[in-house]
Amino acid sequence: ETGHITFDPGFANTGSCQSAITFMDGEKGILRYRGYPIEQLAEKSTFVETAYLLINGNLPDRSALTRKSVMLNDFSLLHEDMKAFYQNFPSKAHPMGILSAMLNALRSFYPELIDLEEDLNQTFLRLISKVRTMAAMAYKISRGHATVYPRSDYSYCANFLHMMFDNPVIPYQMKDDLVQALNVFWILHADHEQNCSTAAVRVVGSGKVNLYAALSAGISALWGPLHGGANQAVIQMLESMHREGFTPAQVIEKAKDKDDPFRLMGFGHRVYKTYDPRAKIMKKMCDKVLAILNIKDPLLDIAMGLEEAALNDTYFQDKNLYPNVDFYSGIVLRAMGIPTNMFTVMFAIGRLPGWIAQWREDALDPNQRISRPRQVYTGETIRDYIPIGDRK
Ligand code: SDX
Repeated sequence: ETGHITFDPGFANTGSCQSAITFMDGEKGILRYRGYPIEQLAEKSTFVETAYLLINGNLPDRSALTRKSVMLNDFSLLHEDMKAFYQNFPSKAHPMGILSAMLNALRSFYPELIDLEEDLNQTFLRLISKVRTMAAMAYKISRGHATVYPRSDYSYCANFLHMMFDNPVIPYQMKDDLVQALNVFWILHADHEQNCSTAAVRVVGSGKVNLYAALSAGISALWGPLHGGANQAVIQMLESMHREGFTPAQVIEKAKDKDDPFRLMGFGHRVYKTYDPRAKIMKKMCDKVLAILNIKDPLLDIAMGLEEAALNDTYFQDKNLYPNVDFYSGIVLRAMGIPTNMFTVMFAIGRLPGWIAQWREDALDPNQRISRPRQVYTGETIRDYIPIGDRK
């Protein structure tokens, strides 16, 4: 009669499940999508090919890849009323809030989420294509620029840069190695086992809700600064160091202060207790993208100084705190000209195939059950009702 239930770790961990999609070893810093090491995919694959791998389980052959690429371009346009829907948001609305709402709205314009495999594949491609278009359209509308339509001769990533930055006044100079850098950026973000937002997609999806609503939940979960919002928070941290002249030592001390809610953004990870393998690749990409664009970003020097100070500090060493994927990613996006408030949208576009693959893994599992975490009850034991006149 203590009012407590027996604690069963199996129930209490919302995200605990079996999955054949992504493998992580947090001690060794290993990340593989369907068995392929992230380092090989970042070097040799494209985002569209990696999305196909995550969702379907194997690398596509040439004809499948060509077919999917054509379909991604075919699906890239939006209903005019989708644009009208977007334009009703206040100008200060955060793009992540808009994206989450638009995902659910998309269901109303494309209700044909049918359970048959081939239709699901159409829906997956439609989502991967339209979320990219929505992001680019949101950027253009926020700047009062005309929407730029995708080109059928451009790849998925090239079309994103085209839709974001091209305009008749100053035509965008497409650079192949920048397109490749965007492919790598989205490959690195494509999936990550049962992280907060993926767990949200699976938990919401387990109630047999439609895919659009489950993805909308994933986008909302990703938004937070402890999760996908960290890339925006890292840049804001580095900018304040640049503006106020805070030294790495000062920032490290502030991050260690238990009475201060400040955390070193872009550092630490629930699973990785060593360097995040994605951060290693992202750090190299910083140098590459800045060189392509001939940019000298003082924030990169500040970030590297901060990393060195943290890695040499016993607090961070004892707690196994290393840079994660978000520590350098914002510098890459900033160099590309992506506005800071769209950094997490960029993370969401990359993570979409992973969410879809994880939702699909449950949706196609005949034994899948609704997620129902349990708890350890710490409240009052049983007591009788007190009439209002007798309450103190
Ligand atoms: C992502 O799960 C995923 O896979 C996520 C992700 C993905 O691809 O989906 O990898 C993407 O979300 C990366 C993480 C981005 N967030 C940040 O960079 C925010 C800063 N990081 C921290 O808030 C934290 O490290 C988390 C949120 C990432 C992890 O939180 P945990 O696992 O709950 O770790 P914790 O808070 O229990 O920390 C353990 C200890 C604590 O100290 P003690 O209570 O033991 O004394 O380490 C300290 C924390 O105070 N700590 C930090 C710190 N991170 C942890 N102290 C200072 N700065 C930090 N960044």
